[in-house]
Amino acid sequence: MSQRVAGFGTTVFVEINNLARQHNAVNLGQGAPDFDGPPEVLAAAVEAVNSALNQYAPGIGMPAVREAIAKHAERFYGQKVNPDTEVLVTSGATEGVFAAILGLTDPGDEAIVFEPVYDTYVPNMVMAGVTPRYVALRGKNWTFDPDELAKAFNPRTRAIIVNTPHNPTGKVFSRDEFRLIAALCQKHGVIAITDEVYEHILYDDAVHTRLATLPGMEDRAITISSLGKTFTVTGWKVGWAIGPAALVNAVNQAHQFITYAVASPLQAAAATALRLPFSFFENLQVSYQARCDRMIDVLTNVGFRVFKPAGSYFIMVDWRGVASKQVQDDMQFAEWLIREVGVACIPASPFYQDCDRQLGKYFARFAVCKKDQTLAAAAERISRLG
Ligand SMILES: Cc1ncc(COP(=O)(O)O)c(C=O)c1O
Repeated sequence: MSQRVAGFGTTVFVEINNLARQHNAVNLGQGAPDFDGPPEVLAAAVEAVNSALNQYAPGIGMPAVREAIAKHAERFYGQKVNPDTEVLVTSGATEGVFAAILGLTDPGDEAIVFEPVYDTYVPNMVMAGVTPRYVALRGKNWTFDPDELAKAFNPRTRAIIVNTPHNPTGKVFSRDEFRLIAALCQKHGVIAITDEVYEHILYDDAVHTRLATLPGMEDRAITISSLGKTFTVTGWKVGWAIGPAALVNAVNQAHQFITYAVASPLQAAAATALRLPFSFFENLQVSYQARCDRMIDVLTNVGFRVFKPAGSYFIMVDWRGVASKQVQDDMQFAEWLIREVGVACIPASPFYQDCDRQLGKYFARFAVCKKDQTLAAAAERISRLG
């Protein structure tokens, strides 16, 4: 095994999934929905397969999909995007972020991330020879200290990665927070890479802001998103990167030698998905709001301290009011919940770097991207704790 990957270990998801299976637990751990995407989107993929759309797509993505991605950006964010030069189709947001890091940074550079941090970014940086700089999200609303952020920027900083709505906390970065980040990016000549895969899953009056649309950011932001969460097709791995032509070209320099091109029939279906009417996106929010509200009630009623999410399909909790005295940390809590209650969640400490793990010690993450009967079964089990 190379030195480069030897330190990665295995992800907590594998461990929790195995334990959940052994104990027949209701799995609210990994963010994989247990229901299907919109039938017209699924049908578009089948039709594409049956219409001989089964050979390599152009490396940058099929023209109809790039066009649909550009239209979607304009429809929801007023962002004007040239589909020929400013859009790249990637194998999910995961490849988009990795290709952006590889295409826009050099070994020895630094990149800033907010902690808790989604688990692919730092291994991506390590593989690219880039050093991560962590800025903590803390408190009820997972805010960051502006001074801490300002201090994280230095002459070696090349990029900042921002995930909004945020996994695992459910935080949605505000426009004011983005003004601060934008000002620092401009002052230090830094590129922002945003991961917006939960852009359409928002609660109450939360508004998703696209950092790339703030004044001064048009030349220095790469926006990444994907079909998986919005259209409940996480297994398709169709994503995209949007940005100024020079940056997208740099991301494509890496992309062309990672996956080259993305599954043609699924790209064709992406064009159908992105053109669905507003009512689809509204219904998605209504259904997620109901799932989230229901689980917040269940969790609150038995004594969890719930961090109400503004977006994403996750709920973070502080478990100390619920678990038995023997439970010392989040890993033990997740195991205890699977064994004693029959429900799986994800411990939060793996979302922190090793030296900060204690910050996640009392937190756990529940996923609500599940059908009614799954949530009902989880609710019934959790309620027995009350
Ligand atoms: C923040 C975040 N980014 C990216 C992904 C993965 O996106 P994709 O399946 O499009 O690669 C996930 C999935 O859990 C996620 O939570």
